[in-house]
Amino acid sequence: MAFLSAVRSFRVIAGEQRTGLLFTTAVASRQFSDNIYSKQQDCPDRERSRSVTSFYFQSAIDQAANKPSVRLTPAAILYSGKSNDDSHILRSAQYLHKELPVRIAHRIAGFRGLPFIIGCNPTILQVHELYIRAFHILSEFPPVVDLNIEKDFSDTLRSLLDDHKDVVTLLAEGFGECRRHINDENLIKGFLDKTLTSRLGIRMLAEHHLALHTETRPNYVGIVNVGFSPRKLIEKKADFVRNVCQAKYGFSPDVKLNGHVNATFPYIAPPLDYILTELLKNALRSTVESNLESLQNMPAVYVTVAVNEEDFVIRISDRGGGIPHSYVNKVWDYNFTTSGNLADDRIDGGLFGQVMNASNSGPMPGKMHGYGFGLPTAKAYAQYLGGSLTIETMSGIGTDVYLRLAHIDGKRESFRI
Ligand SMILES: Nc1ncnc2c1ncn2[C@@H]1O[C@H](COP(=O)(O)OP(=O)(O)O)[C@@H](O)[C@H]1O
Ligand SMILES: [Mg+2]
Repeated sequence: MAFLSAVRSFRVIAGEQRTGLLFTTAVASRQFSDNIYSKQQDCPDRERSRSVTSFYFQSAIDQAANKPSVRLTPAAILYSGKSNDDSHILRSAQYLHKELPVRIAHRIAGFRGLPFIIGCNPTILQVHELYIRAFHILSEFPPVVDLNIEKDFSDTLRSLLDDHKDVVTLLAEGFGECRRHINDENLIKGFLDKTLTSRLGIRMLAEHHLALHTETRPNYVGIVNVGFSPRKLIEKKADFVRNVCQAKYGFSPDVKLNGHVNATFPYIAPPLDYILTELLKNALRSTVESNLESLQNMPAVYVTVAVNEEDFVIRISDRGGGIPHSYVNKVWDYNFTTSGNLADDRIDGGLFGQVMNASNSGPMPGKMHGYGFGLPTAKAYAQYLGGSLTIETMSGIGTDVYLRLAHIDGKRESFRI
């Protein structure tokens, strides 16, 4: 028995080496790819270089990358009609089954288009490989003809979402590692804007589909909250970020809310959740770091909400000293950060803060700052969602950040996901 399974696993590995990333079924492909990972991590350079070339020659991916993507308006998602026999879930799965491999193939083409030395960075290659693996798993999944197969499809989607959850952190690390090889900032910016927003779109569609199965939440159609309250989300994020701030520095400013605090309207919270977290972290960090002399008496951060027919605006105002002229234009560059530049040991929050920092090496939400990805990613997301993110800073006093977002109610020209 042991011998047979040893032979079988030898065949699996030998087959993989011969054919690169050729997969047969969804389940087998996951095992395959996991093999590739464990092999690559401890394999010599020669073997790695063979795998690298296999990244560039895959005809199924080339074909899919030539197809156009079919993007939906949020209103189309919101009003796509619920059926009693769950046929809307089946239709949604069929759309994703066709659409996701095309979108993923476009992203793989993006990885291939990176300057070779950057594309070969091990962390970036790891993300590239995650995309190739997702492409094969999804494109080789059998047609979703009934609700039984749909269930397997949803399980596959769920595990892919989980496998890809650290992609933003990995890209932040990878591009941070190869900073010195980057000659053309615009090329990298274009790649990251596209990769991150495309990923956002894919995740929104996939999470929407999965949420269609659990229609028990009042006020929700999939991931669309028809009675979305900006106040509730801002309060939740402010609590979260204040805790992170407290853990890092030992102190946190208050966050005060004003404006149209009682407004509700349909919206998709997850991308806004991410943007607000990043903006609040920046505001709280600058407030603490520029008020080290008066920690007990720090100025509050004010969040103002304005909701009108055309759009809604969230302004975050801090008294954190503003952004100096010398780098105010750089803050939109990926990987630009002043984290680690401040030589004041009080900003480590004493012993407690140091312990918290040590455990803070995980994914981004728990970190106050560090990757220089917060602002550029938030801006790319805002633009993807038909809005904008702008900064007005008064160097020496503080900063106002304006986040404008389009409504998704279908009453006017809309962005597409
Ligand atoms: N509200 C703010 N006040 C002062 N400086 C800011 C503010 N927001 C951002 N910055 C500056 O912009 C830089 C980039 O911000 P960001 O992209 O969020 O990356 P990170 O927070 O990881 O450094 C920060 O390191 C900081 O120097
Ligand atoms: Mg930040």
